[in-house]
Amino acid sequence: MADRDPGAPALITGASSGIGAAFARELAARGHPLVLVARSEEPLQHLAECLPVPVRVVVADLTDSEGLDRVEAELDSVRLLVNNAGSAHYGDLGTQTAADLETSVLLNVLAPTRLISAALRVMPPGSGIINVSSTAAGRDDPAMADYAAGKAYLESISRAARHEAEARRIVVTVVRPGRTRTDFHDRSGEQSDLPASRWQSARAVARAALDAHDRGHDEVTVTPRGGVVVTDAADPAAS
Ligand SMILES: NC(=O)c1ccc[n+]([C@@H]2O[C@H](COP(=O)([O-])OP(=O)(O)OC[C@H]3O[C@@H](n4cnc5c(N)ncnc54)[C@H](OP(=O)(O)O)[C@@H]3O)[C@@H](O)[C@H]2O)c1
Repeated sequence: MADRDPGAPALITGASSGIGAAFARELAARGHPLVLVARSEEPLQHLAECLPVPVRVVVADLTDSEGLDRVEAELDSVRLLVNNAGSAHYGDLGTQTAADLETSVLLNVLAPTRLISAALRVMPPGSGIINVSSTAAGRDDPAMADYAAGKAYLESISRAARHEAEARRIVVTVVRPGRTRTDFHDRSGEQSDLPASRWQSARAVARAALDAHDRGHDEVTVTPRGGVVVTDAADPAAS
């Protein structure tokens, strides 16, 4: 069980849209002051103005070392880190440009790794980390190979970090959303004509993630068809 203070500040990466903005609304409704991070200042400011809690906006590109430095510096004063920013570039691995691959690894792999490491260094006992993975993690998806591999990496480092975190009473929860209606798929270049029933809301993902985290669960999978399924490392089903 996470024993974070009610009202403890939370930092969310990728808060300018989609699941990150839903985390912001949900955490604000639960009374947490927020630090919102993304590259786009306008939607962050707009969201901040709509929320009923103190909000600090940090405009930073997480593929940039200097941007990451500035976000790391914010972690001293927060008690929940939500590593949510992420992107994919749809297409076969052989068609990806060097820039696409660099962005993928910097944003989906290096950025959360640096922030998890910094959080373990500076956040006090009772803090928490939520890492947003995907049901695509580790899947052999030829059209999102680097993205799926990056999410598998995020899950692996979350499991390893949990040993260190538990010794300091820091809860680490991995969230694995299925298809969620956000800008993600359009931005990735994927063309999808799946019916509405195959999509879930960003709000459903954020709520399930925070509920599972607050109860101290290791992992939660949230999908339109399967609903919310929590697992813990000690579960035989999870080994
Ligand atoms: N939607 C789905 O079906 C789905 C399913 C499984 C997992 N996920 C995961 O959920 C997370 C959130 O995605 P979403 O669906 O909410 O997509 P989204 O609406 O596209 O949101 C992505 C967020 O990441 C930010 N971001 C992108 N590049 C960035 C950079 N270089 N530096 C800082 N921030 C950056 C974006 O803001 P700026 O562009 O303003 O920087 C935006 O706030 C991702 O990790 C994604 O992999 C999504």
